[in-house]
Amino acid sequence: MRHQYHPLGFEGSRIAQGFWRLQEWGWSAQETLTFIEQCLALGVTTFDHADIYGDYQCEGLFGEALKRKPELRDKMEIVTKCSILLPSEQRPEIKVHRYDYRREHILASVDRSLDNLQCEYIDTLLLHRPSPLMDADEVAQAFDHLFTLGKVKHFGVSNFTPQQFDLLQSRTDAPLIVNQVELSPLALQHFQDGTLDHMQQHAVTPMAWSPFAGGDLFSGQTERTLRVRNVLNELAEALGVSVDQVVVAWLLRHPAGICPVMGSGNIERLQSAVEACQIRLSDDDWFRVLIASQGHDVP
Ligand SMILES: NC(=O)c1ccc[n+]([C@@H]2O[C@H](COP(=O)([O-])OP(=O)(O)OC[C@H]3O[C@@H](n4cnc5c(N)ncnc54)[C@H](OP(=O)(O)O)[C@@H]3O)[C@@H](O)[C@H]2O)c1
Repeated sequence: MRHQYHPLGFEGSRIAQGFWRLQEWGWSAQETLTFIEQCLALGVTTFDHADIYGDYQCEGLFGEALKRKPELRDKMEIVTKCSILLPSEQRPEIKVHRYDYRREHILASVDRSLDNLQCEYIDTLLLHRPSPLMDADEVAQAFDHLFTLGKVKHFGVSNFTPQQFDLLQSRTDAPLIVNQVELSPLALQHFQDGTLDHMQQHAVTPMAWSPFAGGDLFSGQTERTLRVRNVLNELAEALGVSVDQVVVAWLLRHPAGICPVMGSGNIERLQSAVEACQIRLSDDDWFRVLIASQGHDVP
């Protein structure tokens, strides 16, 4: 039986907020709720999670906050991920750090995420990392089941190569609408290895994780990072904006339609990223950052 998957692609905000570091922020449920409301007020409605974040605890912290105002649920898009197994006191049955793409694991993981997030559906479920043992037909069955039950609306992947993406897409009727990969001025690989071209070809939304290289762009001291930071500083000064805004504008400038997933819990930093959506970098400026990062001229 074929399933009537929604034909629409990713319908998230231009900028997404990630919650990988939520546990580190040490917030009460009320403080988390305030942050969620501030994000929504800025137009940032897409929230990125994974079952494993914060040693399996971030989804639950978010859910505790959402429980205080359940009416916010339909004003946001929740992305979460499954299938990394992480040995942890929270999950004593896990012995080996590995991946699990068995149907039963995917279904159980989604049920746990729904419980933790205290909501009835996930907007987009991503397979967190590719596994050599992934059986695409079995994953497709899990997708059908989750979609039919209304537990997941859309599906996607993360850290998949174009070939891994195509393999899975060839076995499922569910359109894969996202590939979330590392993209930043210090993470150029997917600009150059065909991953972004493939997404552009298939109208798949690239979500960029660690758009500031996890903060390294601001604090890293390697020769390469200093070189990139120098150029970013020069551009920021010339354009009258901040360095973080140049980075966001650099990602947004790419024609594949990159959605940066911001990682800070500082709302001013998110606001700055949202304002950067108004900046359009010139091709000269875009290439200056690329050249500084790769450390040599283009051919
Ligand atoms: N799919 C995957 O495999 C994967 C992997 C990693 C992450 N992710 C997702 O991507 C999201 C973002 O990742 P990330 O947290 O590494 O993103 P990031 O935005 O690259 O890094 C966040 C870090 O940068 C610092 N920072 C941000 N702006 C700054 C500024 N203007 N000056 C100085 N420091 C600044 C933050 O410090 P403050 O907190 O002090 O602001 C924070 O420590 C995660 O939350 C998660 O949702 C996905």
